[in-house]
Amino acid sequence: AKTQEESLFIVNEWAKRWFQVQLWDTDEGRSVGLAYFRERGFTDDTIRKFQLGYSPSSYTALIEAAKKAGHNLDYLLTLGLVKKNDKGEFYDAFRERVIFPIIDRGGRTAGFAGRIMNSQAKAAKYINSPESPVYNKSKILYGLHLARKAISKEDICYLAEGYTDVISLHQAGIENVVASSGTSLTEDQVRLIRQMTTKVGILFDGDPAGIRASQRGIDMFLKEDFEVKVLLFPEGDDPDSFARKYTPVEIRQFIDTHLEDFIRFKARMLITGSEATPTQKIQAARELLESIALMKGELKQSVYLKEAADILGIDQTILSTELHTILARNT
Ligand code: CTP
Ligand code: MN
Ligand code: MN
Ligand code: MN
Ligand code: MN
Repeated sequence: AKTQEESLFIVNEWAKRWFQVQLWDTDEGRSVGLAYFRERGFTDDTIRKFQLGYSPSSYTALIEAAKKAGHNLDYLLTLGLVKKNDKGEFYDAFRERVIFPIIDRGGRTAGFAGRIMNSQAKAAKYINSPESPVYNKSKILYGLHLARKAISKEDICYLAEGYTDVISLHQAGIENVVASSGTSLTEDQVRLIRQMTTKVGILFDGDPAGIRASQRGIDMFLKEDFEVKVLLFPEGDDPDSFARKYTPVEIRQFIDTHLEDFIRFKARMLITGSEATPTQKIQAARELLESIALMKGELKQSVYLKEAADILGIDQTILSTELHTILARNT
């Protein structure tokens, strides 16, 4: 007999296929969903590689198909593929959205994200499968199954925020990239990356939320003994929108030349304007030291201490005393 988990994976696998068939082989799917992806600049090869799909506007298309295929609706409910309304009637949860399947480490379909195509609509831009016995958000990195080889080969993992960032970078030939998928980065996700490499390049969106998330991410990676670099995209851009404006060669060049060591990034974010005020400098020193205190090993710490001293123009021995105060407090 099958376990519940096996049955759920079978239903997800079936649904993924069904969404793909809707995208490629129906008039609505082609004229709405496929057109949307192509409009975004995704090639047909890319759309196939990421197994993207389409959920039709009908409230019951998936439900009818599932019944026909003999699938238990309770499983679809558990997986969040269907929902129940106030009257107790089932309806398709992802209706009228393009579908991004979320694949787990083992290559199995754990869940789905559905993106709305009409930006005017008030509904959430993305809806995601709920937690289920086969979908644990905090332990999933979007794109990992397609990135694993490249991460090992390049010995660095790029971390983006969203589905489309991963997809567009792949299309530009950059395959060592995964996404935390909006949910703030988790320790489990950091450890998953740590199994493949000790270097990370954070490629979050060039907006205030992206900057804040980068700063939080930096400290989480430092704690796990990563070498941490950060790239800040031009205001308003994310890796996807950026990638659409440039050639693959230009994108790679931009990444290579703009990835900066975490300490320089942090200092730059803390000291705005041409010259730092004393208050800014003190605040910056404290925040840089908090990060340095998370690093493993005195050698690393001392190298970064010198770096911080140079950037801030503060005497290294004074910073060192301050660092030891923080270290003593942290233990
Ligand atoms: N996200 C989500 N639910 C939302 C908004 C965002 O789950 N309502 C997650 C998605 O994984 C999304 C990521 O957060 O990919 C980053 O959000 P955002 O930058 O707003 O979206 P983009 O990835 O840039 O999506 P798009 O390019 O399609 O607008
Ligand atoms: Mn964002
Ligand atoms: Mn974005
Ligand atoms: Mn985007
Ligand atoms: Mn520049």
